[in-house]
Amino acid sequence: MAVIIDGKKVATSLLENLKLKVQQSEKKPGLAVILANNDASSKIYVSNKEKQSLALGFKSSVYIFDKSTTQGQLIKLIHELNENEQINGILVQLPLFDHLDANQIIELINPKKDVDGFHPINVGKLNCGLKPYATCCTPKGIIKLLKAYNIELEGKNAVVIGRSNIVGKPTATLLTNENATVTLAHSKTKDLKSITKNADIIISATGSPKLIKADMVKKGAVVVDVGIVRQFDKSLVGDVDFEKVKKIASYITPVPGGVGPMTIACLMENTWELFLEQNKNNAKF
Ligand code: GUN
Repeated sequence: MAVIIDGKKVATSLLENLKLKVQQSEKKPGLAVILANNDASSKIYVSNKEKQSLALGFKSSVYIFDKSTTQGQLIKLIHELNENEQINGILVQLPLFDHLDANQIIELINPKKDVDGFHPINVGKLNCGLKPYATCCTPKGIIKLLKAYNIELEGKNAVVIGRSNIVGKPTATLLTNENATVTLAHSKTKDLKSITKNADIIISATGSPKLIKADMVKKGAVVVDVGIVRQFDKSLVGDVDFEKVKKIASYITPVPGGVGPMTIACLMENTWELFLEQNKNNAKF
């Protein structure tokens, strides 16, 4: 039976450390979050980000836009936030309304304030093995979680399923930088089972409930579930058939309580790190 990886516990400990540092700092970090869509989950994520920021003593500004919002309005706000010294991190919750161009907005964020690590400069740094100003929150959280449980990555066969810019691709890059041998699988991959069966580490980020079945997992593999879908009965399910796979895996993350809490904790840590970087010549620390 697998060890159940407790993401809530690891995230809480990270947040407690961070809170102490914030308390000791005279100046406080500022995080701006922009929401421009009507998606119910996005609204919950943004509200949780705001609550967590305030709980740590950060300054939090949330900007909510309705469907009539223009690209020009968002561009203007990004320029203002880039110039605002009180704001250290800027997060544009994705997706945006269909008529808005997320890529253009992300490119306009000052890379030093790009708390999600989505700006091409930060993605490029990550790909070059350089330190980005911020590393994408979910991938960073996954690596931290694996390290918290002393799970060896070097030389391991890892498969990442899902090739999004938010999770799949940067997770594959981080694992490569940790010297894992990485396969990036996706919706067009043929015979996924033949790939997962050989994997020491499976990271699934597709949003397809119970895609990963017990017969797709090698005995003793580490299984990380990034999927989270709310069912009709309001329960949350991940990409992994948890009850069956936990009998085969050595370590497994639950949904909820696995990767999710790490994402928000890493967002807070990124905000703090950007704040430090932006204030590093300021004597008030
Ligand atoms: N939408 C889903 N996940 C994320 C995330 O980590 N950051 C942003 N900005 N939007 C998201």
